[in-house]
Amino acid sequence: MDASGYDGASFIPEFYDHVVPYASRQDVAFYVEAACQSGRPVLELGCGTRRVLVPTARAGIEIVGLDASEGMLEACRRRLRAEPLDVQRRATVQRGDMRDFELGRAFRVVTIPFRPFQHLVTVPEQLACLSAVRRHLERDGRLVFDIFNPSIHRLAKPADGDETDEEPPFTLPDGRAVIRRHRFLERDLIKQVNTSELVYYVTHPDGRQERLVHRLQMRCIFRFEAEHLLARAGFTVEHVYADFSRAPYGSQYPGELIFVARLVAPVQEFGR
Ligand SMILES: C[S@@+](CC[C@H](N)C(=O)[O-])C[C@H]1O[C@@H](n2cnc3c(N)ncnc32)[C@H](O)[C@@H]1O
Repeated sequence: MDASGYDGASFIPEFYDHVVPYASRQDVAFYVEAACQSGRPVLELGCGTRRVLVPTARAGIEIVGLDASEGMLEACRRRLRAEPLDVQRRATVQRGDMRDFELGRAFRVVTIPFRPFQHLVTVPEQLACLSAVRRHLERDGRLVFDIFNPSIHRLAKPADGDETDEEPPFTLPDGRAVIRRHRFLERDLIKQVNTSELVYYVTHPDGRQERLVHRLQMRCIFRFEAEHLLARAGFTVEHVYADFSRAPYGSQYPGELIFVARLVAPVQEFGR
């Protein structure tokens, strides 16, 4: 089952790059630096439309992007075709599920930018992903990823289905004006899974109105839970940050939950 909803709503790849909180997210330099520090090919899981992938290739690092959504990948390929040839050569993308993939090669760094890991809503799915990551990491390789830090204050509020969090509006290249709102449909406090909708109110240049919905599920993962999960999957946590300028976890609340984890128990090594 696809908890992320990215393949169920065909308008998302077209809108994604214009959504203001995505376009202004301050994580790109952090992931590009992680790639550059390794100096070697990087694997990005859930690469989406290219937000991190293209800047990494522009910085001179070979990167392989994997994503489950053909629509997101098609948008990514279109973006790549507009890049200079050397950048295009450094970036390849392919469709795949981060819970079960086999690329036949190992990387120095695997990244999962902007929370795709939270679309894995059960522990077996999380472990399947970490196991696939482990198969694709060199000895001492790093897994770098971020999730949101679940706010206890927010969890305490009932999911009443009200639309909240109005964001800055944006305009698509063809003149459609878009306002996006968010609403929680359900907060399963036992399974730690939020079901919510991102609702796009679109006004066409001729005045026609449209309401488009992206429904998705995300698992809340707490800091120590993630650390236990990583240890169980053969990783040791090197850093936990609260933001992308590397402020330590605990310096703000809720902040982000950003992990740099090192592989300590490779299951299988590729001959490189
Ligand atoms: C919030 S977007 C992040 C995209 C990109 N990493 C970025 O930073 O902009 C989440 C992405 O994860 C992908 N995704 C969700 N579940 C996945 C899975 N099981 N395997 C691979 N990709 C997945 C979605 O298709 C979507 O492109």
